[in-house]
Amino acid sequence: MEIFRVTGGVRLAGEVFVGGAKNSVLKLMAAALLAEGETCLTNVPDILDVTIMSEVLRRLGCTVVRDGDAMRIDVPGRTSTETDYSLVRRMRASVAVLGPLVARYGHAKVAMPGGDAIGMRGLDMHINGLVALGAEVRSEHGYLIASASRLRGAHVTFDFPSVGATENVLMAAVLADGDTVIDNAAREPEIVDLVEMLQSMGAQISGAGGSTLRVTGVRGLRPTAHHTVPDRIVAGTWAIAAVMTRGDVRVRGARPQHLERVLQRLGDMGASVRHESDGFSVSIDRRPTARNIVTLPYPGFPTDLQPMAIALGAVADGASTLTENVFEGRFMFVNELIRLGANIQVDGHHCAIAGIERLSSAPVEATDIRAGAGLVLAGLVADGTTEVGHVAHIDRGYPGFEASLRGLGASIERVSVPDLYLSE
Ligand code: UD1
Repeated sequence: MEIFRVTGGVRLAGEVFVGGAKNSVLKLMAAALLAEGETCLTNVPDILDVTIMSEVLRRLGCTVVRDGDAMRIDVPGRTSTETDYSLVRRMRASVAVLGPLVARYGHAKVAMPGGDAIGMRGLDMHINGLVALGAEVRSEHGYLIASASRLRGAHVTFDFPSVGATENVLMAAVLADGDTVIDNAAREPEIVDLVEMLQSMGAQISGAGGSTLRVTGVRGLRPTAHHTVPDRIVAGTWAIAAVMTRGDVRVRGARPQHLERVLQRLGDMGASVRHESDGFSVSIDRRPTARNIVTLPYPGFPTDLQPMAIALGAVADGASTLTENVFEGRFMFVNELIRLGANIQVDGHHCAIAGIERLSSAPVEATDIRAGAGLVLAGLVADGTTEVGHVAHIDRGYPGFEASLRGLGASIERVSVPDLYLSE
């Protein structure tokens, strides 16, 4: 196992560059399946989840070649339609191939991901959406099997603006017969990015960025070239790290308009935030003031920045609450933060945080990508050296995580240790 050793006490300062969004590129890669031929993606982040999605596409029969931040995906005239558990269990986003496969071939067999460390994460909205488009979906031996001789446009209304369900239904509807309306659709910038790529492939879609998406199905799509939208969660992580360490950080390659609620909150806490032509900068020279935070679907405060926001509240001046409205199981990492001396009480989907001046280093374990990043940020403001275990989680979503932090002056190193190290 690899761990990070983080020594706290440094004020982060300098520049950090943000690449393409994990939560976008994985779906763009799935969208490539909709057209025969070579699709080229750029601004592709070098993260483990992209490697896993590349493997999903290869096993379906595609050729995937990476060259720096560019990726070429060559999709044959006919691919396999089956994605097995060995890949889906490693990365839930593999289910994004369901919509494209059933749209193109009328058949898809994709292993069900099961629960994970941040909550139940059902697939009912994905399934109901595909059923509304005329697919028959059944579950058998741990697989979801979707089939349809021809998809037809329909009116789909989601109970909740699910990102993954919006993407799957959208990628199915683009090749369906007739018109589809998706109501209460997710509005995340990653959905807009996917819509833009689909449009450049020849899809007819309107309403991206709003709650209603309208799609007119077309007979076929063509491969395209597309530049991935910047990763707002990585950018937000560096912004929060800057405020926690009372630092001065310039985040380049990011779009501040995708982080409006987050940057506004950091401003409320005392930070000075400046929008720049290719990003933004955040600086603060005193202890941040505690402020309440509520996570919500976009344009609300992102649930993916919730662990970092709790870590920030843990060292802010005063008491605050954080309310989680997207994933019910996402407070599990709070126990790790308490090991670092944080004063936090969890009650249902709320947590009450009483800020303290400084955390106290201890060995802790990352349970998912964002919890891992939150714990490293906590280590930056703890006295002594904090060891964060299972950093493979962090590698799933952050390219060059420790190099970025070191570039800002942090003291962090990656160390290989025997697997049982932390429990000995
Ligand atoms: C995506 C992101 C994840 C982010 C989340 C919310 C990727 C790879 N992951 O996850 O980082 O935290 O959006 O912004 O893009 N739900 C159901 N039934 C469904 C679908 C979802 O009950 O059929 C529930 C989930 O359990 C969760 C909520 O809806 O409580 C939101 O999930 P969703 O928006 O679908 O998140 P993901 O697409 O899985």
